[in-house]
Amino acid sequence: DGFPAARLFDQGFSYTYDDVIFLPHYIDFPTDAVSLSTKLSRRVALATPCVASPMDTVTESSMAAAMASLGAIGIIHSNTTPSHQASLIRLAKSHKIPFNHDLIFKSPSDSILSAEEFSSAPCIFVTESGTQNSKLLGTVAKSDWEKLAEKEIRVSEYMTKSPVSLPAGYSFEDVAGYLAKNKLQFVPLVRDNDGEGEEIVNLVTADDVERIQGFPKLALPSVGFDGEFLVGAAIGTRETDKERLEHLVKAGVNVVVLDSSQGNSIYQIEMIKYIKQTYPELDLIGGNVVTAYQAQNLIQAGVDGLRVGMGSGSICTTQEVCAVGRGQATAVYKVASIAAQSGVPVVADGGISNSGHIVKALTLGASTVMMGSFLAGSHEAPGTYEIQGGRRVKKYRGMGSLEAMMKGSDARYLGDKAKLKIAQGVVGSVADKGSVLKFIPYTMQAVKQGFQDLGASSLQSAHDLLRSDVLRLEVRTGAAQVEGGVHGLVSYEKKSF
Ligand code: XMP
Repeated sequence: DGFPAARLFDQGFSYTYDDVIFLPHYIDFPTDAVSLSTKLSRRVALATPCVASPMDTVTESSMAAAMASLGAIGIIHSNTTPSHQASLIRLAKSHKIPFNHDLIFKSPSDSILSAEEFSSAPCIFVTESGTQNSKLLGTVAKSDWEKLAEKEIRVSEYMTKSPVSLPAGYSFEDVAGYLAKNKLQFVPLVRDNDGEGEEIVNLVTADDVERIQGFPKLALPSVGFDGEFLVGAAIGTRETDKERLEHLVKAGVNVVVLDSSQGNSIYQIEMIKYIKQTYPELDLIGGNVVTAYQAQNLIQAGVDGLRVGMGSGSICTTQEVCAVGRGQATAVYKVASIAAQSGVPVVADGGISNSGHIVKALTLGASTVMMGSFLAGSHEAPGTYEIQGGRRVKKYRGMGSLEAMMKGSDARYLGDKAKLKIAQGVVGSVADKGSVLKFIPYTMQAVKQGFQDLGASSLQSAHDLLRSDVLRLEVRTGAAQVEGGVHGLVSYEKKSF
């Protein structure tokens, strides 16, 4: 009944996730017996098979810390200076808590004239020199500042002096306990800078505690041998990226992703060889690839992981602009089949918009899924919410959009040396999704249910069932796809958890 994967994907069609459907198999275990633990690359293990994409509207330090706290990982984008990218890695790794607040600093002689100076922060820190790594003298809570009759006066006249702080190494539970015991609204977290004084690196508020304590617990956090969160970073394949990589390695990056839309190039292969020789301990993910031929070249060059996808991303126009790419289900299956022979894990990158797509990607052979739009509207994504047509949205843009390329990401499309720039992506916005700390655990529970229906209690078992032709698939006709979605209702509320 149904088609074995090898036959289905050998007919000359480019299938997307929505084109195919698995036939159910046999259940002999409960949902909670499903383990989604996996490998991102040869030596980087994760408890949760999710990766935040290296895009400047998706992954900076807040997202990376949050993903690591969930047992997943974030890859910090490279559309910024090497030193800023390194500082984002350091910031994510210095946290033991899964989020990151904007921090605002003033010196004692400054004043706060408008509420906008608080940005989205609940307080402003007053330090000796008005900068982050200078002695903390006081704090101004936004709620206290709002009650001030005269705003022009210096902050030193009304700040709360000698505020308490906690070490950045404290766990979320420790900080939550401290806030509750001392009935505080917020507390700054500080890190000792190797004897050169303290630096304020974050803060936790009572609101954070209430919000996060209501979220479901997922898996063990992703922590490296250094005892800090696992954090990845993207680089390009230019000479200047070698210098960038030096900064990232010094910042403690745990895995590097070579960010290119067509990875099978002489530039990438030379870069892989250079990195493997210079940093033999560092895991390296190459890509993007969509064919067995591309994959084989990069595996031969020495990659520890492969990123799969070309033009399947929600903001991508590569297939339209360049006429190259592949349906993501076919691409994942074909590349994973080759990569498995060399023990190289596959990252299915792009095109994920629901938990069913994740089940399909992982069962077709991927070890993790990389997501952009799925995470972009979250609390932890960079940027602030705006109201558009009555909905709260956040900006999400392709790294090949003209807007992103103006900041440097054109190297990803090997277009930085070209005289004329052609966009391969768009700028848009996505709806507010709340915190990844909440929706990723629910999404993973849905993925486990999918695995249960397939009779697979782990990723390895799903891959084995597929390769031994026990799992069967079919192509969905247009009508079957309509039938598989909600249909025939005048209205309905889409709420999954
Ligand atoms: P999703 O579907 O998760 O896709 O939003 C994210 C992935 O899309 C890729 N990406 C692009 N592809 N033009 C492209 O053709 C672009 O401007 C672009 N920006 C990102 C990238 O692989 C990402 O992880």
